[in-house]
Amino acid sequence: MADGKSSPIRSACFIVPTYNEAENIVAIIRQILGLERAYLSVQVLVVDDSSPDGTANLVLELEDERVCVLSGKKQGLGSAYIRGFAHVLEHMSVDAIVQMDADFSHAPTDASRLLAQLENSDVAIGSRYVAGGSVDPAWGLRRRLISKFGNMFARYVAGIYRVRDCTAGFKAIRVEALRRAFPLRLRVQGYVFQVASLHALHISGASIAEVPIYFADRAAGETKLGRDDVIEFFVHVWWLRLLSRKTFIKFALTGLSGVVVNLASFQLLLSTVTNPYLSSAIAIEASIIWNFFLNNFWTFRDRAISSRKRVRGLKFNAVSLLTLALSFSTFVLLRWLFPEHPAWLSQLISIFPAALANYFANSYWTFKSDQV
Ligand code: GDD
Ligand code: MN
Repeated sequence: MADGKSSPIRSACFIVPTYNEAENIVAIIRQILGLERAYLSVQVLVVDDSSPDGTANLVLELEDERVCVLSGKKQGLGSAYIRGFAHVLEHMSVDAIVQMDADFSHAPTDASRLLAQLENSDVAIGSRYVAGGSVDPAWGLRRRLISKFGNMFARYVAGIYRVRDCTAGFKAIRVEALRRAFPLRLRVQGYVFQVASLHALHISGASIAEVPIYFADRAAGETKLGRDDVIEFFVHVWWLRLLSRKTFIKFALTGLSGVVVNLASFQLLLSTVTNPYLSSAIAIEASIIWNFFLNNFWTFRDRAISSRKRVRGLKFNAVSLLTLALSFSTFVLLRWLFPEHPAWLSQLISIFPAALANYFANSYWTFKSDQV
């Protein structure tokens, strides 16, 4: 699609998931249908999870052939979207889909700008976090921080860091791109769907652009984001990382081999140098150098990197020393918090945060790819 020879968008289906949106649904559908133009036909697919407040009935009462409802049982936002996507791919013939919330956080008029962007990309995200985008000033500091943090976490852990707003729920997607990305099976139920579907589009080669939007606080009703969504979010984003990159596994294997090198050289040095502290220090450096070469020639082999190997070696060393400090402070902290637990357990646990920090620092700094 990068060649720019994309076909124009003449029809769009708006997929709107709803759970108890009786106060909003009719008004939002009217506004969406108002986007219809001579050159653009508009349809609305409401995916309702048998809302107890009768949302689905209100939609049916509209008796408009451009509007239809898919009803199911309450399984979560992600499940609803997956059902909606499948319905469009199997039964409808449209050029694009637009996914948006029913609660007026996303302004239907902004959808025109998203669809216009599809002239130049496969996906257009209504983004809060690019220049010109914003969220309701009514959002408190806590909510802003949670949103920012969740977004950062998803960007860097799932590896879609070029996208500024990758938890966004407002997106226009070309149906051809959607078809290429699915039926990549998404096993998600809740809000993490936004990240998982974007990730699927990204690895299937879709071009992704962000269009600034203002995200208003919901007009009426309340958010449906629950604890299960949050847990699934943090677990699933890690899963996405493993799915998309063999790099992470290679890095972990390299780290394990480094432990062997460390212990073996320690034993060897002990018998020759005899001073255990000096032996330990040399063994640590030996394993750092070993890890560096293995990472350089194996783990990150496929990356186009122009920095000098010497520079990378120094960076790698610096990261290793910092993570050593992190691991040590974790150890000290755990001993202080849980003095009753055995020391080796604290030592073992202290490896993990350090290993993660090590991976990210090296992946995004030492071995940073030249390709943005
Ligand atoms: N069918 C169905 N089933 N719809 C649901 C469900 C569900 O289990 N849960 C939520 N929805 C619908 C709501 O009715 C609403 O139309 C839309 O999904 C968004 O739900 P909200 O509860 O209003 O979400 P939010 O405002 O907290 O979150 C928004 O921003 C997030 C990023 O900050 C959404 O756009 C999220 O998708 C987005 O990730
Ligand atoms: Mn909302």
